[in-house]
Amino acid sequence: MALPLFLPCAAGVEALLAEEVRGLLPSAAVAEVRGGVALSGDPLEVMTLNLESRLAQRVLVEVGHCDYRAEQELYDLARAIDWSEWMTPRHTLRVDTTVHRSPLRSVNFAALRIKDAVCDMLRDATGQRPSVDTRHPDLQLVLHLGEQHAQLYVDTSGEGLFKRGWRTDKGDAPLKETLAAAMLAAAGWRGLPEAGGALHDPCCGAGTIAIEAAQIACGIAPGLKRPFAFEGLLPFGTPEMRAAWQRLKSHATARIHPARVPVSGSDVSFRMVDFARRNAERAGVAHVISFNGGDALERAAPSIAPELPGTLMLNPPYGERIDPKGAATSRSRDGDGEGGGRDDSIEEPTRRRAADAPRENRELASDFFPRLSAHWKRAYTEHPGGWTAWVLSPDMKLPGAMRLKASRRIPMWNGPIECRLYRFDLVAGSARPARDEEA
Ligand SMILES: C[S@@+](CC[C@H](N)C(=O)[O-])C[C@H]1O[C@@H](n2cnc3c(N)ncnc32)[C@H](O)[C@@H]1O
Repeated sequence: MALPLFLPCAAGVEALLAEEVRGLLPSAAVAEVRGGVALSGDPLEVMTLNLESRLAQRVLVEVGHCDYRAEQELYDLARAIDWSEWMTPRHTLRVDTTVHRSPLRSVNFAALRIKDAVCDMLRDATGQRPSVDTRHPDLQLVLHLGEQHAQLYVDTSGEGLFKRGWRTDKGDAPLKETLAAAMLAAAGWRGLPEAGGALHDPCCGAGTIAIEAAQIACGIAPGLKRPFAFEGLLPFGTPEMRAAWQRLKSHATARIHPARVPVSGSDVSFRMVDFARRNAERAGVAHVISFNGGDALERAAPSIAPELPGTLMLNPPYGERIDPKGAATSRSRDGDGEGGGRDDSIEEPTRRRAADAPRENRELASDFFPRLSAHWKRAYTEHPGGWTAWVLSPDMKLPGAMRLKASRRIPMWNGPIECRLYRFDLVAGSARPARDEEA
């Protein structure tokens, strides 16, 4: 049974997701479309994608589509679908909507009409109506309303796939796991000596990048520790499908192997390091990652084998959301950045707008990026295997502020915030006057 599938992803990640899906399902014809990828797949492939995709937000099965001008056409679309193939009246449902230039006045009313159609169809077929559960529904439908065209999907994932099932300690501005995975994929980091080498996140927060990286390095499927909506849906509930799902998970578990490269993270905040360690334990990679406290402006580079390349990957603190801490805001320091990362420099982070910070702290904080690159130039350029830094930032002038030349700038969205993933090659003499970048 070939089902039309749509896998949504963050804007900018479509090509990476298409490549990932081609790797998971080599015989699938995968089409990149705005906001995701489309393909045909059978129920086994639906389960594989849910279990293995690091970049997709969900795995949706398209059950119908139509041109529409009013809610009645949407009702007719849903009323014509045989919902008894997906659920019984004992199951609960919820209808979510995504909208792009819909002419309808009320999106909620459109969702209500879809729900009515599903209930009416099942009542006519079985004599009973299913009920709605907005918190933990068995069947989650997604109605996408475009300018003239609507699509109706069954969501086989349930909770978004960025929820890997290990995060309970969040921190102040955690990255979504899917975005951390996209950063690693864009950098070509695959957890191998020849594909990225060692990985270090010097502003690791709750540890998302390092944990995602450690799972990649060990071959741990991202969905191994979480439930999926498809497990409660009729097409996946036959004894054969249940056995197939158990086999997929057993094969994924058997594939797990020791990491071939070291992974580490550090943060100026003890609280964050503690969160990161606890998250890594739940993710099954505490033995792979070394998390430590330390100021990114002072901490020595991780010590790695001389021939091994190193990858620095971070989403640093930035003005409006999280201020830099440590030596960047410490008035007692002279700021030469050579402190070597003593743990006694660690401060608790405070969440606030940059504009609320005392003026002199803001001036010191605005110094963070040039000082970070100056530190990198001192601490990271002598390593024979070389270090490459990848920085996700909404600041379009970051290379100028860091006085570094970006060898790549990849557009990516962190939720609603447009960002660039910058690549900096840290070689001796890589810092250069900011004027070059501006010119
Ligand atoms: C945007 S958050 C990173 C979030 C992280 N990627 C995650 O997923 O949780 C920035 C982090 O930088 C840390 N930080 C701020 N100033 C720092 C400094 N000077 N050295 C090291 N870490 C710093 C903050 O404590 C915060 O955890």
